[in-house]
Amino acid sequence: MEAKGDGHVAEILHVFDFPQLYTKPTAQSLLNTLTLLTSAPPSWECSDSEEDYDISVGLNKRRASAATKPRPVQINPEGLTRYLTSIIGNDLGWIYDDNMKEDIWEEASLRLSERSGRSAMPAMSREFRVPTKSGRVDITIHEPALTEDNIGLKTWAASYMLSKRLHTIKLPQSKDKAPPRMLELGSGTGLVGIAAAAVFGSSVLLTDLAEITPNLAGNIEDNRAAIEQCGGSMDCAVLNWAEPFTCQSYLRGLGQIEDARNATYNGSSPKYPVILAADSLYSPEHPRLLVQTIDAWLSHESTARVIVEFPFRDAYVPELGDFKTRMASIGLCVLEEGEESGYDDWASEGGRSEVRCWWSIWGRIPESGR
Ligand SMILES: C[S@@+](CC[C@H](N)C(=O)[O-])C[C@H]1O[C@@H](n2cnc3c(N)ncnc32)[C@H](O)[C@@H]1O
Repeated sequence: MEAKGDGHVAEILHVFDFPQLYTKPTAQSLLNTLTLLTSAPPSWECSDSEEDYDISVGLNKRRASAATKPRPVQINPEGLTRYLTSIIGNDLGWIYDDNMKEDIWEEASLRLSERSGRSAMPAMSREFRVPTKSGRVDITIHEPALTEDNIGLKTWAASYMLSKRLHTIKLPQSKDKAPPRMLELGSGTGLVGIAAAAVFGSSVLLTDLAEITPNLAGNIEDNRAAIEQCGGSMDCAVLNWAEPFTCQSYLRGLGQIEDARNATYNGSSPKYPVILAADSLYSPEHPRLLVQTIDAWLSHESTARVIVEFPFRDAYVPELGDFKTRMASIGLCVLEEGEESGYDDWASEGGRSEVRCWWSIWGRIPESGR
C-alpha cells in the first residue's frame, strides 16, 4: 500500500506482485491478472455508480464487464511491458488447455497494445452515453484498426465533450417549430452528428472526406433505430472543405450531388440553419477551409448557429485565432463560449491524457452591429 498525495491510501501493485512464470501459475490466475491490467480509455467515462457505466468494450466481449469497472488498485508501470512480453513469448507448457493458452496470449497482447497508445489498438466498438433533453441515449461507435495515420477513424475527446453539452444548448425556434436541419463538418466516426440527431430530434447530415465516409455510414446505420426513437434522422455525404460548395451523398448513392449555390429540386435552400464541428483545426490550412465551408452552407437567417468544440493543442494555437478572425469576417460572432477538460483515450503506458477544449456557439452579427 502507498499513500497518494490526496491523503488517501491506494493499493499500488508492482510487477513482482503478479504471478511469475517460473512458478507455473494457473491459467486462471494469469487471466485474472491480465484483466486487472486492462486500461480502458478514460474518455469512456466511469463513475462510482454502477448504473452510470457507459462503457462497453468490443475488443473482447468476454472481458467487457471487467474492463468497465474501476480498477480497485493502481499499477506501477515499471517492468510491465517486459512482464507482458514474457507471457507472449512463453509456451505456457504447464497449461494443458489450448483455448486457455490462446486467451492468455491474446489478453497479454491487448494489454501491450493499450500501453502503446490508441494507434496500436485493433478495431473496436465503443459505447458513449449522451444526455438528451429527456434522458439519455447510448451511441455505438465502431473504430477500425488504425493501421494508417487516419485520424478520422477514431473518436476524439472534443467530440464526446460536445456531444454531452448539446442537451444544454437552446436553439432559436424556427417559424414552423420543427427541429432545425443540421450539417456536421469533419464528422470522423460520427459521435457529434449522431448525438445531435438524438438530442434535438433533427435531421442531420454527417460529412467527411471520401475515405472516412464508409466507416461513418456504418456507424449511422448501427445507431439509426435508437436515433429514430428520439425523433432524429441522419444521412451521410462526402464534403471536402477544399471544394466547399459540393456535397456528394454517400448513403443514397454517390451520384447525388448537392450544391450550396443552387436551390434543391423543390425550390428550397440547401443551406443549413445549424452547423456542427468538433476538433477540426489541426493544420494551418484548416481555419480557411473550414470557415469557407461554413460560409457556403450556413443559412442566412438571423437564427442560424454554428456550434464548435476544439482542443487547445500547443502546436495549433494560431489556428484558433485565425478561425475566430475568419468567422468574424463572414459576419459571425460568438454568442456563448467556454472551456472544459476531458480525456483523450489511451496515452502511451496507459496513462490519462487530459485535453482542454474551447466550445463556442456562433450566430450572425446583427446588421446594425456591422
Ligand atoms: C481530428 S478529426 C475529428 C473527427 C471528429 N469530429 C471527432 O472529433 O471525433 C478531424 C476530422 O476532420 C476531417 N477533415 C480534415 N480535413 C478535411 C477536409 N478538407 N474536408 C473534410 N473533412 C476534413 C478528417 O477526415 C477527420 O475526420
